[in-house]
Amino acid sequence: MDNGNQNYKSQIMQRREVMKSYSETDIEIVSDQSAGLPQPPMDKQCLGQKIIPLSKNFDNIIVNNDFLNLINTRTSKRKYSDEYLSLDELSFLLWSTQGVKDIIGRQRKATMRTVPSAGARHPFETYLFINRVEGLEPGLYHYLALEHKLELIKTIEDQADRVTKAFGGQAFFGNAPVGFVWTVIPYRTEWRYTLDAQKYALLDIGHVCQNLYLSCEAIGCGACAIGAYDQKLADSLLGLNSEPSCDNDNEFVIYAAAVGKVEE
Ligand SMILES: Cc1cc2nc3c(=O)[nH]c(=O)nc-3n(C[C@H](O)[C@H](O)[C@H](O)COP(=O)(O)O)c2cc1C
Repeated sequence: MDNGNQNYKSQIMQRREVMKSYSETDIEIVSDQSAGLPQPPMDKQCLGQKIIPLSKNFDNIIVNNDFLNLINTRTSKRKYSDEYLSLDELSFLLWSTQGVKDIIGRQRKATMRTVPSAGARHPFETYLFINRVEGLEPGLYHYLALEHKLELIKTIEDQADRVTKAFGGQAFFGNAPVGFVWTVIPYRTEWRYTLDAQKYALLDIGHVCQNLYLSCEAIGCGACAIGAYDQKLADSLLGLNSEPSCDNDNEFVIYAAAVGKVEE
């Protein structure tokens, strides 16, 4: 590293630390779980006005069921046709990325989902910028994972342009039939894993997006992960605050992905 800038070097060092494991830290830390503090909610409830029930019957939408072929054909796809996704196809993508299969534990406090997550903490919320899904007006939606339902949060004037601007000027994302945006609520994982939680959440979200990629391949869609975005603009489009915080309800954008039908 020959940047010559001490401040840059110290930032690199700080950020590399997040990639390490601190289970064996020498600082004495008692997690909020061990201290008997109540577990934070497993998902965020009812922000919107219109509730849209989703089906769990995916029998008729899979066009490619050959696992090896799915693995081999997966690429990042950024060009989408004008075709709309059906609501059942969108439902399948939500199910395969964050669907709740079971709630376990003596106090029914952990969700078992279609993706793994450290300690089954599942610290994410899923938001959608919708442009082309049958039966849904364009706007910002939120997935109610526990109920497998969608809620409309708001319609956004000049949605495609504002989303493009917030997500690195990437017009294919702003104009995609569906833009998935995942936020993280770090305290869900920190409640148990304290200083290891931030790394775990970053590992967890990779599984979510990979399931999206493979599920898209299975239904004739394509996906492209989006890591380049403007934190403040993206958070503010979702009505969230980007300021540094250690509040238990602190929530911010962590990752996104464009989804659309692709030409045969
Ligand atoms: C964490 C991450 C962030 C990414 N961010 C972007 C992005 O902002 N814009 C984009 O066009 N592609 C993005 N990609 C897609 C990569 O460019 C792509 O995965 C890579 O070029 C390999 O191509 P493949 O996915 O077709 O195998 C991202 C991928 C990952 C895993």
